[in-house]
Amino acid sequence: MSEYEYQVSAAGRINIIGEHVDYCGGKVFPVALSLRNTVYVRPNGTNKINIRWTTLPDEVSLDIDRLESYNNLKYGNYQAGCALVWRQAGHKLVGCDMLQDCTVPFGSGLSSSAAIEVSTIAALAVVAGEKIDPVEIALLAQRAEREYAGVNCGIMDQYASACGRKDMCMLLDCKTLECKYVPFSTGDYALVIANTNKPHSLVGSKYNERRAECESAFGILSKVMDITCLADVKSKDFEKYSHLLGGKVRDRARHVVEECERVERAVEAMESGDIVALGKLLNASHKSLEELYEVTGKELDALAEAAQKHPDCVGSRMTGGGFGGCTISLVKRSAVGDFIAKVGEEYRQKTGYQAAFYNAEIADGIIVTKLQTK
Ligand code: GLA
Repeated sequence: MSEYEYQVSAAGRINIIGEHVDYCGGKVFPVALSLRNTVYVRPNGTNKINIRWTTLPDEVSLDIDRLESYNNLKYGNYQAGCALVWRQAGHKLVGCDMLQDCTVPFGSGLSSSAAIEVSTIAALAVVAGEKIDPVEIALLAQRAEREYAGVNCGIMDQYASACGRKDMCMLLDCKTLECKYVPFSTGDYALVIANTNKPHSLVGSKYNERRAECESAFGILSKVMDITCLADVKSKDFEKYSHLLGGKVRDRARHVVEECERVERAVEAMESGDIVALGKLLNASHKSLEELYEVTGKELDALAEAAQKHPDCVGSRMTGGGFGGCTISLVKRSAVGDFIAKVGEEYRQKTGYQAAFYNAEIADGIIVTKLQTK
């Protein structure tokens, strides 16, 4: 990589708890991972952004004066979107050569797209000689995701990807963007990430549909309650007014209200070292995402259920947007090998898919390294 000047990377993430609440103004509890997207980059003195990938034969050359015209590319549309939002925000955009290398498995629910967007924008900032502002980059990356991937996502993934810290969880208030860093500590338990390897489909449209249902619940409840977002609703008040909401919308809103309360309890459990209590909250979160929010599906349910049955696992749930993707499980460290063998086998028998298990560390968000050029 000696022909490049900088190595700029950003993280994939898992969310420990607080699922499908970020776009309702709730608090989430993600960590950034050592699975990342890395951009090797150098300015090239032209008006072109030339992109290569370590995993693809394709090469793409984007003209920085025609960025609006690239939304139908097979590859490179995310990067074009990132460059466009970066410039629209008033930043300097310079031509450069990029090599993209992603170790976040695609379609896994571990936010490969956020890692790509955040690292690409950070790389553009570095070659333009601008200062890295991780929160601004997260917000711009979110805009690129909304406009270029068509997913009306919340801020969790991009924030975690940009602002993560090694060995820390982020308790992020998605209404105010205040973030409290909480040491990740699970004592004798390891956090095991398992991929259903079920390619997720229709994610965007279902995601946007859930989001609209929450907006409709907020619209109705805000007429009778003093709230600024759905996450402001407490469960005891929800019981008073839930009859105003229709069936599915009521279920979706109940998930959001109760999940927000689970986040508070999960943070307390982690801070006090009560990993069994934390595990129970993970199980409850999965159940709610399965039954009330309906974003799990057969494979995630089979994987979480096999994990929850294992005697050395205290809790397991889907993580991320759902409809396929990954679970996380808290497993006695000494039993991780046995857990992987048994859960993998049971999952394969039930679904026909081979699960993958990852051993990722909790890492920093954006990392910029100056390379030694030849
Ligand atoms: C996706 C979105 C996030 C968040 C999660 C669900 O990952 O990008 O903003 O809504 O789903 O918690």
